[in-house]
This record gives sequence, C-alpha cells and structure tokens, in this order.
Amino acid sequence: MKTRIGIDALGVAVPRRYVELADLASARGVAPEKYLRGLGVREMAVAEPGEDTVALAALAARRALAASGIDPRDLGMLVVGTETGVDHAKPVASYVHGLLELPRAMRVYDTQHACYGGTAGLMAAVEWIASGAAGDRAALVVCSDVARYGVGTPGEPTQGAGAVAMVVATNPALVELDVGLSGAASTHVHDFWRPLGAREAQVDGHYSVQCYLDALATAYRGWKAIAVERDVVRPGGVVSERLARICYHVPFCKMARKAHQHVRRCDLEDASAPWDVAQEEARADASFAAQVEPSLGACTRVGNIYTGSLYLGLAGLLHADARDLGGKRIGLFSYGSGCTSEFFSGVVAARAAERIARAAIDDVLAARERISVAEYERIMALPATSPLGAAPTDGYRFVGVSGHQRQYARPPA
Ligand code: COA
Repeated sequence: MKTRIGIDALGVAVPRRYVELADLASARGVAPEKYLRGLGVREMAVAEPGEDTVALAALAARRALAASGIDPRDLGMLVVGTETGVDHAKPVASYVHGLLELPRAMRVYDTQHACYGGTAGLMAAVEWIASGAAGDRAALVVCSDVARYGVGTPGEPTQGAGAVAMVVATNPALVELDVGLSGAASTHVHDFWRPLGAREAQVDGHYSVQCYLDALATAYRGWKAIAVERDVVRPGGVVSERLARICYHVPFCKMARKAHQHVRRCDLEDASAPWDVAQEEARADASFAAQVEPSLGACTRVGNIYTGSLYLGLAGLLHADARDLGGKRIGLFSYGSGCTSEFFSGVVAARAAERIARAAIDDVLAARERISVAEYERIMALPATSPLGAAPTDGYRFVGVSGHQRQYARPPA
C-alpha cells in the first residue's frame, strides 16, 4: 500500500510587535495606497533583538509539536531553513534542539538558500521518510527568519519576521504531499543576497520580481509535465485551474497576484490557443480571488518572513478554508533568491480543519501590540546583541552573549 507522507501539524510564531503599513506610508510621505494596494501589505512584524531566528524557531517548533501531539522521542530529524542564522558554524537547529530538549539520537542541521531553505528541509524530510530510512520516526522542519532591508529603502515596507514549524510524518493530518511530483528551476543571479556580517539584505527589487517569475514558469511547467504524465491533472487549457488553491511564496502579497497571472499565461501559451486580453484579465482576477487570495490573510498581517512565507500562506489558507478543501489538491510554489525554486503539490486531509485550529492563528496574531513608527525605528537601531530584555512568559528570548556564546531564556515550564 502507498505510504501517505506530508505535513501533520503546523506551529506559527511571530514577534510581539507590529507596525501598521498605513502609518509607515505617512511617515515616509508615500501614498498609503501604494503599500496597501500596490504591494498588498497591511501590517509588518517588528522583531526586537531578543526575538531572533532561534527564539522564533523554538516557539514555532514547540507549538507544532503540541499541535501534532507527537511524542518528541519519535522524532529522528530536525531541520531549520533560514537565511538569517546567528552563527557561521553552529546551526539554529542545534539551539532549537537544546531549548526543546529533543532526543539525542537524531539528525539536526540547517538548510540555506534564501527563502527556499525551508522547502529544502521539507523535501529532505519527506524523502527521508519515503526512503524508509526514517522507520517509524517523524521529522520537525522549521522555517525561521528576520527580514530586514533597512529604514528608508524601497524594501522597507516588505520586511517582517516570524517562524513556521511543521511536523512531517506518515498519515498526515493537514496535507499529504505528492511525493516525487515537483518541478524545480535554478539560475545563478544576484537578485537578493546578504554579505557576511551584514544585517540588511542587498536587493535588486524589480529584478528579483522578474527572477521569481522566470523561475516560476520553469518550475510550474516541470510540475505540470509530470502531473499530466501521472494522470494527476487533465491536460489542456488552463491546467492550473484544476488545483483547488495555489499558495505562492509571498515576499509581499501583490507578488502572489503577479505569480498567478504568470502561471495562467504559461498555461495559455502551452495550450497554443488564442486568447482575448481583456477577457483573460477578468478571468485572472476571478481565479486569483478564488484560488489564491484565501492564502494571504496571515501574510498580509505579518509581512515577509522569508523561508516561512510560503508556509504562513499555507497556514492561513487552511485556517480560512480547510473545511472545504478536504480531499482536494493544492499547489505550492517556493522561491529562494539567488536563485532556486520548486513547484509541488499535495492533497488536503479530511481532518485538516480540526488540526489547523490547534495552531490558533487568530490568537497568535491578536496577542501582538501595535507600535508607532518612531518605536519601530528605535527597535531597528538597536544593536543585534542588545535585547529589550522582557521576561519570557510567552516564548523564548535571546538574552545576550556570554563567553562568546549566545544565551537564551525559556518560558516557565
Ligand atoms: N496606489 C496604488 N498602487 C500604487 C500606488 C498608489 N498610489 N503607487 C504605486 N503603486 C503600485 C505600483 O504600480 C506597483 O504595482 P505593480 O508592481 O503592479 O506595477 C507597486 O505599487 C509597487 O510600486 P513600485 O514603484 O514598483 O515600488 P518600489 O519601486 O518602491 O519597490 C519592490 C517595490 C517590491 C521592488 C520593493 O519593495 C523591494 O525591493 N522589495 C524587496 C524585494 C522583494 O520583495 N522581491 C520579491 C521577489 S523575491
């Protein structure tokens, strides 16, 4: 019998503070509509230095394990995908492993390729289980990042921070992934990078949008060729419409709209049928509203979380729509600048609504505090090693460096 493998549970962690993008627009002398409609962003998470990649990852991981109900002794692998690691050698995963007191007999490592790192971890986990090497064990995959472009830069409204953790196991309660059914695309480009020692990313923003779309076309067509060959989707016409929903990597929510238009354009070109531009525009809008928009609810309130952005989209989608999606196939597109990317798919589990409720996404977002632009700028100016020092009643915190070693506080047991 075929082994069903996929995402069994999700946990989400975000910083305690956020800034309204309308406030940021006013402070920068920009029309708020540019941020709210032009970029599709509404709120942006602001991480203080105590809420670093490790602290966010540990909290998301703890929440995912609790949501899954798995005994941590049944884990055999922990992978953290991140592009904002805290050390050149010691992985974020090893801090998380220690903070959560996970078993000794397991693989623990980080994966890095800009925003794709988490997907690299997810694929490694799925294929580890599919190979039989995992035995009865499950994997914990965490995507965690603090996205900084810097005050006053064009990238400023597309910052954010947060982590999404996933328990990957057999008989998953959220999404069964189509193992081996994916399309990948990679090219050596300098669309976004972060030199060693720099806290802020370098980005050629408009070029990065083009690199994303070029990669998407190749990755989607790669997925489609295998999906058609395996009879997973019927060929011809706008094949992407046969997916109930599509989650795209969302550096800012408008990117998902551009991505979806591009996928439809690929389908139309592949079908070699003439199309009416005005009609297609209307159809693309309707299909975006039905197939993509439901996944953007959480993303628009947190901003870019790099590796976790695609999975925050998935969490938001399941939170909004899981009850209608049981048994239906969805598509997912992961993009990491530099660049590499992957289009893949899976089927939503019948019990996904009940399981995603345990991620308590509304509560996670509601627990945050809105801050002013002046307070956001003060936090951005803090040195990376100067945490604000609040007691960790609700999560993990980086509390400073001692003997060249990063120190963390845990929430009370
Ligand atoms: N009302 C409504 N929309 C408006 C507007 C207004 N008053 N003013 C501008 N806009 C729209 C623009 O038309 C544009 O939409 P379009 O892309 O559909 O044409 C959008 O707002 C953005 O405007 P633009 O002038 O292109 O913004 P920008 O030059 O300041 O930078 C990014 C936008 C995304 C390039 C920049 O934020 C960035 O570099 N981000 C980081 C990189 C990134 O996230 N890359 C993604 C791929 S990984």
